[in-house]
Amino acid sequence: MGMIIALKRLGVGIGDEVITTCLTFTATAEAIAAVGAKPVIVDIDPATLNWDWEQVVSRISPRTAALLPVHFAGLPIDMDLLRAETIHGICIVEDAAHALGSKFQGVPIGGHHFSTTVFSFYPNKAMTTGEGGMIVTSKPTLMADYRIVRLHGIYRSPDAMPWDYRVVEPGLKANMDEISAAIGIAQLEKLEAGQLKRQQIAEAYTKAFADLDVELPPQPHPGDTHAWHLYVLRLPSWRSRNHFIHQMDSFGIGTSVHYVPLCLHPQWKKELDLHETDFPHAMDYFQRSVSLPIYPKMTAQDVDRVIDTVRALLT
Ligand SMILES: Cc1ncc(COP(=O)(O)O)c(C=O)c1O
Repeated sequence: MGMIIALKRLGVGIGDEVITTCLTFTATAEAIAAVGAKPVIVDIDPATLNWDWEQVVSRISPRTAALLPVHFAGLPIDMDLLRAETIHGICIVEDAAHALGSKFQGVPIGGHHFSTTVFSFYPNKAMTTGEGGMIVTSKPTLMADYRIVRLHGIYRSPDAMPWDYRVVEPGLKANMDEISAAIGIAQLEKLEAGQLKRQQIAEAYTKAFADLDVELPPQPHPGDTHAWHLYVLRLPSWRSRNHFIHQMDSFGIGTSVHYVPLCLHPQWKKELDLHETDFPHAMDYFQRSVSLPIYPKMTAQDVDRVIDTVRALLT
């Protein structure tokens, strides 16, 4: 919902195009379509699993109203490249659902003044409020506008009576309720420890799987911080990924695949005329990828058990 609020307020709508990545949850494209704009989908860079920047640049046109990157798995995209595009008047809205705690060259994702950043507080994220999320901008007037869109387009003048309000534009009902906010405040206290734990689990996995015939997840550039929302292995193409998932399951270890690329969903294929062959890297990733368990409550024994099982199955 945060991405819809941001795009709507930034004036993105019918006739506009917004560029985003093929490797994301459908919510990213859905937000673009919800404001009436057209999602323009680019392939990924297999070295980062984030969008392929050359493709992004090649798809920028006079119709491009916004760029909507995803920091996939929590690995930050190059924010310097993104900043350079804003001189053409293109808006930046980041889908930071995976990136609470990520940093680009020491600056937290959400701390870049040229961009609006949207975080998710869904239960599987770095922190949760049950449902909901957070919009971040360093521009106070823009934040005041987002607040108006967020709740029915209502504006309350500081000079008016407390009961008084005026609807100044068509808005949404997307405010965070008090119960969710209370959960969020309690969650904030655990956030840093949780991020450290994810980092430790990722390091343990990376060390333990270094000699296996698998592609390990991309590591952050020096100076960047990875939030490790996901830890994704890419199996060799001769091995059946789904068989591996069944085997892990038989040992009581849940794994998953993030995500079915947008070019495979009937809705986006049809609406955007997407063809799998135009997204070879996202398709290759999709066929070979498996996300291992990574969450703060994992004990050292849990981590060891995942490592031992993966090693036993893949050695
Ligand atoms: C990349 C990405 N964007 C957006 C979302 C949607 O977040 P929410 O469930 O808070 O709407 C998700 C959820 O998993 C996601 O992974």
